[in-house]
Amino acid sequence: MAVRPIVTNPDSPDVRGRAKRVSRIDDTIRTILDDMVDTMRVAPGVGLAAPQIGIPLRMIVVEYEGQLFHVINPELSKLTGAETDEEGCLSVPNWQGPVTRATSLLVKGRDRVGREFRLNAEGWLARIFQHECDHLDGTLFVDRVTDRAALHWIDPDEAVDDGGGGKRRRKQGSGDAAPAPIQ
Ligand code: NI
Repeated sequence: MAVRPIVTNPDSPDVRGRAKRVSRIDDTIRTILDDMVDTMRVAPGVGLAAPQIGIPLRMIVVEYEGQLFHVINPELSKLTGAETDEEGCLSVPNWQGPVTRATSLLVKGRDRVGREFRLNAEGWLARIFQHECDHLDGTLFVDRVTDRAALHWIDPDEAVDDGGGGKRRRKQGSGDAAPAPIQ
């Protein structure tokens, strides 16, 4: 288990390429997933994709409202609804902007031991999965903002703790960045 450096340059080829499918789920893959979870928690964030730590493989981790998901080769289907809300990204530090996403979807893939993974996600959780899966194709939320002029800088010094006794909750919008104001 280790915290790895997050790619924080949105122009880096690391976060702009198309990640490859994982062909074999073994201990090496599980170590990367564990490191992704450590890295996400320290950031802190609610999701992380492998390319964000420089690993071009189709793997994401998501932690939201006490539930932790590791998904290998995730695929999204049954996307319905549309809602616009603010997102941020650990690889685009301190920027935030409105993105329209589906409000309900099905996530399919494999879990950390290779079993089939299926999850119906709604609302903010559905948004996080869409944001993280975008990373696997080199797409960042800034590519999807409804209005580039609405992208705005969040001063990290003005970020306040959520005051929730350590329980994370969303105060402003975010993608994989912290639910409290963007890191
Ligand atoms: Ni992101």
